[in-house]
Amino acid sequence: MTNTALVGRLVQHHWPALASIRSCFTPKPMMSLSHKFVLNRVSSSKTEESALLHKLRSKANNIEEIQMAAECMDHLAAGIDTTGDALCFLMHELSLPRSISVQKRLHQEIIDNPNAKLDDLPYMDAVIKEGLRLFPPIPMSLPRYVPKEGRDISGYSLPGNSIVSCQAYSMHLMDTSVFPNASEFLPERWLEKEGEAERNRLFFAFAAGGRGCIGKNLALVEMKTLLRDIYGRFTTKIAPEMSSDMSIDDQIIASRPKDQKCLLTFQEVSV
Ligand code: HEM
Repeated sequence: MTNTALVGRLVQHHWPALASIRSCFTPKPMMSLSHKFVLNRVSSSKTEESALLHKLRSKANNIEEIQMAAECMDHLAAGIDTTGDALCFLMHELSLPRSISVQKRLHQEIIDNPNAKLDDLPYMDAVIKEGLRLFPPIPMSLPRYVPKEGRDISGYSLPGNSIVSCQAYSMHLMDTSVFPNASEFLPERWLEKEGEAERNRLFFAFAAGGRGCIGKNLALVEMKTLLRDIYGRFTTKIAPEMSSDMSIDDQIIASRPKDQKCLLTFQEVSV
C-alpha cells in the first residue's frame, strides 16, 4: 500500500467532506490482488480448519463478511509487508561494499554449521537484529492509554487516560551508551556479553507487552530461512543499474525504501 492510499484513508476518516472533493480529482484506485484474494476466500464456503477464517466463522458467527475480510487482510499485511520490508533493507545493507566482511562472516557461519538449528546461528541472529534495529519495518509511535488512576513513569507523573507512546525508530537510536555509533550497521554489537540486557530491553522492533507482535517467532524463522539459503550459496552486490533511493520512507504505519525498488546481483560462491 502506498503512502497516498493511507493519506486518503486519513482524510476520509477525519474530513469526509474534503475526501469527497478529493475523490473527484484523483483516479479511482484499482483493487489490489491481495484484496481480491481475501474477498474471494471470505465468500467461498471452503476453509481449512487451521485457517484464521475458519476460526472467525466458527467462534464469532455474528461477524459480517466484510469484517472477516478486514481481519484477514490485517494479518496478511502484518505478516508479509513487515518481513518483506525488513529483508529488503537488510539485504541492501549487506550488499553494500562496506558490509563485505559481514557477508563473509555470515557465509562462514552457515557453511560451518550445515545441520545447525536456525536458532543456533548466533551471527545470523545478530545480523537480523541489527537490521531490525536500524530499519524497523514499523517505526511508528504505538499509542497506549495510561490507566485511569494515572502512573508515575521514570519520575514523570502521567494523568489517567492520557495517551503515551514510544516508537522503535527512536528507541533504537537515542541511547548511544547502549548503542554506540547507533546509526551504523554493526551486527557484532549483539554478540557482546556486556550490555546485553540493556540492548535487548531497548530492542523494540516487535514492540513489547501484551499487544506486542504475535508473529515475532514466525517472522524470525522466515527471515533466517531465507538468509541461510541465500548467503550459504551466494554473495550479493548492488546491481550496477541500481539508482533507487533506499532511505527509509515513513508510510505512516510501515517503513519502505523511498523508491520501493532494490536491485541486487547474486553470484554463486565457488566451493
Ligand atoms: C519483521 C517482521 C515483523 C515486525 C517488525 C512486526 C512488528 C509488529 C509490531 C511493532 C506490532 C505491535 C503493534 C502495536 O503494538 O500496536 C505487531 C503486531 C502484530 N503483528 Fe507483527 N511484526 C512482524 C511480523 C509479523 C508476522 C510474520 C505476523 C503474522 C503472521 C505478525 C502479526 C502481527 C499481529 C496479528 C499483530 C497484532 C497483535 C495485537 O494487536 O495483539 N507480525 N507487529
